[in-house]
Formats: sequence, C-alpha cells, structure tokens
Amino acid sequence: MSLTSLKDGLRTGINGLDYEHRELVGMMEALCDSFDDAGPSSEVSDLFGALYAEASAHFALEESLMREKKYASYEAHKADHERLLERIRQMMEAYEDGMCEDCGTSLRRWLEAWFAGHVAKADAGLRSLAE
Ligand SMILES: [Fe+2]
Ligand SMILES: [Fe+2]
Repeated sequence: MSLTSLKDGLRTGINGLDYEHRELVGMMEALCDSFDDAGPSSEVSDLFGALYAEASAHFALEESLMREKKYASYEAHKADHERLLERIRQMMEAYEDGMCEDCGTSLRRWLEAWFAGHVAKADAGLRSLAE
C-alpha cells in the first residue's frame, strides 16, 4: 500500500476527518518525496514541522470530539496519536543532527503502516460519534 492509495482508500464517513486525513497524507507524501529527492534541508525540515503541526491539530480535534462524547476508547486512541507524534519528533531531530540517512525509506514505510492501521481501526470507530 502506498501513501497515494491511502488518500482515497480509507474513509471514516465523517467528512471533516476524511478531508483532514487526505490533507495529512498529502503532507506525508510531500515530506517523503522531498527526502527521497534529496531536497534542500530547509525544505525537509519545514515539511517535518508542517506535518507535525497539522497532525497535532488533527489529533486535538479528534480527541476533543472523543472527550465531548465520553468515548470509551479515548485513552488508547490518544496513545496511538502520541506514538505518531513521538516518531515524527525523533525522525525530525535525527534529520537535523545529520543522523538519518535512511529516514526517507523508513519514514515512508512507518507512516504508511501507522496511517493505514490507525484510520482503519481507531478512526473508523469514531463513526459512531457522528451518528
Ligand atoms: Fe484521524
Ligand atoms: Fe485518530
């Protein structure tokens, strides 16, 4: 599965979240492509920062929806969000320290796996909150 195929392949049925998921996948692709193409380091750093900010905002929205509706799986869902943010932070720091030669490959693989698993399992469970 590629990031591109995730863009339209995964849907929660909640329009606002699905829109943001497509935006996030676009940002993940831009970051991985820039890394693969050995783009300027300032561009890669900016894309890391933009993805981190966008993912944080998206997760805050989902978490507020879950708290508002007293969603039973809130803690586990939030922990999975934190796992992604931590991974992005680690990769961003390694990149800036020049210690991340295979970041592009492992980042793309990791983001695809995290995103596919999280949206299909955790985010799909949020559909019940929108009904
Ligand atoms: Fe999400
Ligand atoms: Fe989520």
